Amino acid sequence: MSTNQEKTVVVTGGNSGIGYATAEEFLKKGYKVLITGRNTSLIEKAVQQLGEGAAGVTADQLSLTDIKSLAEFIRHRYGKIDALFLNAGIFAFASVEDTTEEQFDSMMDINFKGAFFTAQQLIPLINEGGSITFLSSIHADTGMPNSSVYSASKAAVNALVRTLSRELAPKKIRVNGVNPGPVSTPILDKANVEASAVDHISNLIPLKRMGYPSEIAKLVTFLASPDASFITGAEINADGGMAVHPMAG
Ligand SMILES: NC(=O)c1ccc[n+]([C@@H]2O[C@H](COP(=O)([O-])OP(=O)(O)OC[C@H]3O[C@@H](n4cnc5c(N)ncnc54)[C@H](OP(=O)(O)O)[C@@H]3O)[C@@H](O)[C@H]2O)c1
Repeated sequence: MSTNQEKTVVVTGGNSGIGYATAEEFLKKGYKVLITGRNTSLIEKAVQQLGEGAAGVTADQLSLTDIKSLAEFIRHRYGKIDALFLNAGIFAFASVEDTTEEQFDSMMDINFKGAFFTAQQLIPLINEGGSITFLSSIHADTGMPNSSVYSASKAAVNALVRTLSRELAPKKIRVNGVNPGPVSTPILDKANVEASAVDHISNLIPLKRMGYPSEIAKLVTFLASPDASFITGAEINADGGMAVHPMAG
């Protein structure tokens, strides 16, 4: 029998990849799970697949209006929540010379600004003893070529993790960041990463393989659990050792 039947988590970008796997993992642990995303039909499909305990709402992390409506929806449906997983994000490969203003704005606005304002709007709804986990990336620290804006957006997220962990400590809300290395999810197709590039990346990882979304999901659910009760302000890599490998990048 579950010990988490009264607990609720919000997973942004929960219809795909790491977010979907984490929603599944929270459901296994007995949480009620609310997922968000931009595309209503994809959210509905994901909620149906996730099954009992799952719900979804359309909310574009680019839009402060949508974020405020999300907060209102949560307040009305659940009252308070226990955990927030800020996972929604996008990625585009481009050298500094080739990066367009549109790429710059969309990555900074979704990955950092959107995560910032979602946290801001949902903080009043998080119970004392709850947690926020941000999905960042090892790119925040590795100087990976062709990912300058993405890396900067994730470095900004990690700076926010540190500050927010201190601001929310008096409310006993823990705030942490997870830095995955390369994980097999649809984000790679969306960024037109070719199979040969995936092989190359896998070879740069000391464990010689990409991560699975379920491996990140298990870390995120751990960070939200009482087992992680003394962990806040932390950035935890889950990257097969890539960030410490001399050939990283
Ligand atoms: N896969 C990796 O190698 C890797 C490594 C390190 C970090 N990450 C990070 O992990 C997170 C999840 O990515 P993933 O790999 O699981 O990719 P994914 O399968 O493409 O999932 C991304 C999710 O974010 C949602 N999303 C994107 N833009 C949004 C917006 N404006 N508003 C609301 N939702 C939005 C997507 O929903 P839509 O269907 O609406 O697009 C989707 O549900 C991202 O923050 C990514 O940067 C991934």
